[in-house]
Amino acid sequence: KKLVLLISGRGSNLQSILRACQTGGIPDTEIAAVISNRVEAPGLIVAQAASIPTEVTDHRAFPSRAGFDTALQQQIDRYAPDLVVLAGFMRQLTDTFVEHYPGRLVNIHPSLLPAFPGLHTHARAIAQGVCWHGASVHFVIPELDAGPVIIQAAVPVHKDDDPARLAARVLAAEHEIYPQALSAVLSGWCSLEEGRVRWSKPA
Ligand code: GRF
Repeated sequence: KKLVLLISGRGSNLQSILRACQTGGIPDTEIAAVISNRVEAPGLIVAQAASIPTEVTDHRAFPSRAGFDTALQQQIDRYAPDLVVLAGFMRQLTDTFVEHYPGRLVNIHPSLLPAFPGLHTHARAIAQGVCWHGASVHFVIPELDAGPVIIQAAVPVHKDDDPARLAARVLAAEHEIYPQALSAVLSGWCSLEEGRVRWSKPA
């Protein structure tokens, strides 16, 4: 099976997915390419060090969101991936792009969705005084951070947490659940059917 990962930054989720592909956590799967919208994304170096093809499509080179998404889609489709994996990809995608990959586009979001969609989730969780926070892997639908959830991990919020400390605790959980979720979808155990997540033993 083949994955294409889209990134914008550090690439620590890319690293955990790569390790899972190499060690059997995600069986019979390779990362066919890593595509970034930012040329300076450190995750590109992670990919290059593992001899994974990398590409950069800079969103600033396109006058419209639709133009950027069309270019991105063409780049992705050259690799014919089974799944397109958003791993810290910080651009909103158009409906046309999302609908081109039904059940084949997944994202990780640093909160227990539907709580805290959008940005600055850790600071908002602390400000709200919630006791539990976490991360969600979900299928992507046109509405931002609203797709059906595949796997979530919860972490406690401590009294003396600041956003950075809480983010680190959530990130460790992200690294656990993203490979698990990808493995479940790639094996056919988990799929998106009529807008809902379905778990069933593959035939
Ligand atoms: C993660 O916290 C992810 O949930 C969010 O962006 C961050 C990406 O981190 N969407 P990394 O680039 O995978 O290290």
